[in-house]
Amino acid sequence: MAVDVILGLQWGDEGKGKIVDFLAPQYDIICRFQGGPNAGHTLKFGGKKHVLHTIPSGIFRDNLINVIGNGVVIDPITLAREIDDVLSAGVTLDSNLLVARKAHLILPTHRMLDAASEAFKGAKKIGSTLRGIGPTYMDKTGRNGLRVGDLDTPDFKAKYETLKEKHLGLLKIYPKIDFDLATEEKKWFEKIEVLKSLPRIDGEYYVNEALNAGKKVLAEGAQGSMLDIDFGTYPYVTSSNTVTAGACTGLGIAPSKIGEVIGITKAYCTRVGSGPFPTELFDDTGEKLGQLGMEFGATTGRPRRCGWLDIPQLRYTTMINGVTQLVMTKIDVLDSFEEISVSTAYETDAGRVEKLPFELGDDLKPVWSSYEGWNSSLADVKKFVELPQKALEYIEGLEKEIGIGFSMISTGPEREKLLLRN
Ligand code: GDP
Ligand code: IMO
Ligand code: MG
Repeated sequence: MAVDVILGLQWGDEGKGKIVDFLAPQYDIICRFQGGPNAGHTLKFGGKKHVLHTIPSGIFRDNLINVIGNGVVIDPITLAREIDDVLSAGVTLDSNLLVARKAHLILPTHRMLDAASEAFKGAKKIGSTLRGIGPTYMDKTGRNGLRVGDLDTPDFKAKYETLKEKHLGLLKIYPKIDFDLATEEKKWFEKIEVLKSLPRIDGEYYVNEALNAGKKVLAEGAQGSMLDIDFGTYPYVTSSNTVTAGACTGLGIAPSKIGEVIGITKAYCTRVGSGPFPTELFDDTGEKLGQLGMEFGATTGRPRRCGWLDIPQLRYTTMINGVTQLVMTKIDVLDSFEEISVSTAYETDAGRVEKLPFELGDDLKPVWSSYEGWNSSLADVKKFVELPQKALEYIEGLEKEIGIGFSMISTGPEREKLLLRN
């Protein structure tokens, strides 16, 4: 069997959690492969909203296994809070949430370093979620990190102290920040016991053996392709590979094992944090998208910046990911717009371009093309073919521009608000 991958084609928050939750019953195993508690994946069913940060979005479904893969960075404090939340929502944790031994640990001092580095950058700050993501991946690639498997070694405390001392040394180069390290450390060591209560696995063997046994595996991406450390709007990115290739390194599967790649885009575009966003709107239309889309970060609560779709950007991210099917979310947010614009190219100082340049600089001006709005509510549309003609024209126009078909259209945050193409 192959591993299908679901990921975001923009700057995150495309609705990955909702789509994974919907598709989960078709799979045996759902795996997160990168990122950490910077992610906020929202699921809505039974009139309730649930936000997951580290736990895969299959956790509310029966009879399937959720794996936190080796590519994920784990903060035991956030994870313990999430575990409490899912338990109080009625989930039973009984060997259905597994953690890869090779996943790296976020220490309290990683969060301190994140905050200090951002404060030091001032106006040039990344707008990080301050969850310690960057410093943890830096220690991973710098070969200093602590992994889940280290928790079982007798000298774990000594390893922790060595890394903490290194961090305290590094913190001296930054202006002092407010952080109650003693309290956070105490909590961290308490919550490590919660992490240790979960079955720990050699994820690469687990997933490959499951595939060989005919199990169906879905890999759930976090963030979005434009936040990828290699291909995103560097340096305004996260610190992991959010693209399909990240599922291979983040789970220990060969590229030949990748099956469907399901790329999600909103019907418009958002970004939270700093960095370029060529189709961003600073007018009433942008404001309206934010209001109707309730565009506030699921992790930090920050307002998301809003704008129209960017076709060169979507072509770029579908190319890099090898997307085989597209999903559009939040089309309902456009119900009351007279006109919907998309950018089909950029005007630059060097002329018109349809490819993403090295940097998305201020000189990039979107070349707009527009679609008529449908001016009606999609709330009661139950089938793809029942979509209003103007909505179909928008969907089909985008397919033509991007070169890949939409297999699903999401018309609301609830689990059942999803139109399947066939
Ligand atoms: P993720 O990080 O990709 O999982 O996305 P988030 O959960 O951060 O943000 C997506 C937001 O949009 C959440 O509040 C979802 O409940 C909501 N959402 C998902 N799909 C739809 C949709 O089709 N319509 C509307 N109106 N909201 C949606
Ligand atoms: P999900 O999985 C949206 C953004 C931050 C910041 C940059 C770097 O919910 O789509 P980091 O904390 O990773 O060092 O922050 O990346 N960012 C996200 N934006 N959705 C996310 O995750 C994000 N995770 C990180 O706002 O600009
Ligand atoms: Mg999110």
